[in-house]
Amino acid sequence: MSNLVRACSVDELEEEEVLRFDYDDRTFAIYHGPDGKFYATDGFCTHEKAHLGDGIVDEFEVECPLHFGAFDYRTGDPTVAPACIKLKTYPVTVTDGAVFVDTAV
Ligand code: FES
Repeated sequence: MSNLVRACSVDELEEEEVLRFDYDDRTFAIYHGPDGKFYATDGFCTHEKAHLGDGIVDEFEVECPLHFGAFDYRTGDPTVAPACIKLKTYPVTVTDGAVFVDTAV
């Protein structure tokens, strides 16, 4: 069962940008990749509790603003220490100019 929630409009997020999205006491990070696709992960870094929505995006990688660990936001895999625990990812759907995240997975 899915729970599609509108995170933002397509126009709110340029390519290679990240946006914080809060929903139901949870925080997500929404990304617009250089491939034109949208992606979503948990909003908090798995190292400590820093908002990845405040991070720097380069290609398909997000750099955490606190200790500069990094993740591939397509897979959630950590790519730069001290990040070492995988980040949860979520399916994203684009409909009628809006980005929807499936928060049920
Ligand atoms: Fe993100 Fe430390 S909190 S790398």
